[in-house]
Amino acid sequence: MRTLGVLTLLSAAVLLCSAAPGLEPLTCRKVNSSVAADKAVHHINEYHDHGYKFRLHEVQGNSVEQVDGGCNVKLQLDLRETKCHTINPKPFEDCEIRSELARAVKANCTVLMTIKDGDANITKYECDTRQVKTNAEMRRIRPDCPILLPLNDSESLKFIHDMVKLFNINIAKKHYYILQDVARITAGKYMHENYAEFVLVESRCPVGSKIPIEECTPLCPDRADYAYCQGFEGFECYINDPKNTTALGPGEEEPVCGHHERSQPHDHEHGHGSPPTGGKGKGSIHPLRRFHPCHGFLFNPDPALHPICPWPLPHRTQNESRIS
Ligand SMILES: *[C@@H]1O[C@H](CO)[C@@H](O)[C@H](O)[C@H]1NC(C)=O
Ligand SMILES: *[C@@H]1O[C@H](CO)[C@@H](O)[C@H](O)[C@H]1NC(C)=O
Ligand SMILES: *[C@@H]1O[C@H](CO)[C@@H](O)[C@H](O)[C@H]1NC(C)=O
Ligand SMILES: *[C@@H]1O[C@H](CO)[C@@H](O)[C@H](O)[C@H]1NC(C)=O
Ligand SMILES: *[C@@H]1O[C@H](CO)[C@@H](O)[C@H](O)[C@H]1NC(C)=O
Ligand SMILES: *[C@@H]1O[C@H](CO)[C@@H](O)[C@H](O)[C@H]1NC(C)=O
Repeated sequence: MRTLGVLTLLSAAVLLCSAAPGLEPLTCRKVNSSVAADKAVHHINEYHDHGYKFRLHEVQGNSVEQVDGGCNVKLQLDLRETKCHTINPKPFEDCEIRSELARAVKANCTVLMTIKDGDANITKYECDTRQVKTNAEMRRIRPDCPILLPLNDSESLKFIHDMVKLFNINIAKKHYYILQDVARITAGKYMHENYAEFVLVESRCPVGSKIPIEECTPLCPDRADYAYCQGFEGFECYINDPKNTTALGPGEEEPVCGHHERSQPHDHEHGHGSPPTGGKGKGSIHPLRRFHPCHGFLFNPDPALHPICPWPLPHRTQNESRIS
C-alpha cells in the first residue's frame, strides 16, 4: 500500500472466479421462480457493464405460458443496486446492497425466458432503474442525507479529471490511466461532504509519453488494471490486477482487442481495437455515450444513475441473445 497526500492506494483482493450458478434445472412442468430469477440476474449482471452490479430483492410475479415444445416464462423482478462496481471481481451475490439512507437504487425488471428441452434461455428484458427515494423525498425525511447529482455534473467532472491527473503523476507506473466510468456522485449538505465514485482503466500510453491523454485508449479488458476510486477531499483507489498478467515477449505489441471476446451493444458505433467498458471483455464506450450507454432506449432515465439497459438492444442479432 502506498499513501500519497490525498491519494491512498489499496489493493483489492482478487477473486477471479465468479460463482457458478449452481442451479437446479428449470422445467416447464414446475417453474421454480427463484431459480428462474437467479438465472435472469446472472444474465443481467453479465451484460451490465457500467455502474454497479445488481442483486435480487424480490420476485414480484411470474407467469408461464405453454408453447410448442416448451414454455415462455415472464418474470417481474425487483432488483437493488449493490456497492460493487461492475469491474469488481466479487460475485454479485457477495455484494452489499445500498441502504435507503445511502441512497438505494431499485430496478423493476420484466424478464422473458424460454424453456425448451431443459434449457432455459433469456430472450428479452427491460428494466426501470430508479432511486428508491428521490432527492426531494430524501430532503424531506432526512435533510442531512446526501442527494445524488447527475453523472455529468460539470463541477464534479472537473474535480474527477484533476484526480485522474494526480493519479497519473503519483501512481501510474507503466501506463497512464484514463477515466472509464463516473459511477456515482453525491452532494452533502456542505460542499466538503460531496463524494464521487469513479473507475480508471489502464491505457496503452506509456508513462512519460507525449501523447495527449485524451487520445489514449484502454488496454484490452483482460490485460488492463482497473482502479475504483472514491472520495472527494481525499481519495482512495482500489486497484484490480489484470486477469492476464503474461508479460509480452520481446518486440511483441499489446494485442488489439478484437470482438471475439464478447459481442456487445456498442460495436457498430466504433472502430476496431476500441476501448473496453468493463472488466469482463465488453466493448467500447463512445465518449458521448459514457454516461448513457443506452440513451434513447429508455423512458426518462435518471441522469444520476447507471440504468440496466434493455436487452437485447434493437440492433443486436438474435444469434447473440443466447446464453449458456
Ligand atoms: C426453488 O429452488 C430453491 C433453490 O434450489 C429451493 O430452495 C426451493 O425450495 C425451490 N422452491 C420450490 C417451490 O420448489
Ligand atoms: C414494474 O413494472 C411493471 C411493468 O411495467 C408494472 O406493472 C409494475 O407496477 C411495476 N412495479 C413497481 C413496483 O413499480
Ligand atoms: C448532462 O446531461 C443532460 C442529458 O442527460 C443534459 O441535458 C445536460 O445539459 C448535461 N449537463 C452537462 C453539465 O453537461
Ligand atoms: C495473455 O495475453 C497474451 C498477449 O496478448 C496472449 O498471448 C495470451 O494468450 C493471453 N493469455 C490468456 C490466458 O488469455
Ligand atoms: C445467425 O445464425 C444463423 C444460423 O444459426 C446464421 O445463418 C446467420 O447468418 C446468423 N446471423 C448472424 C447475423 O450472425
Ligand atoms: C438456448 O441456448 C442454447 C445455446 O446457448 C441452445 O443450444 C438452445 O437451443 C437454446 N434453447 C432455446 C429454448 O432457445
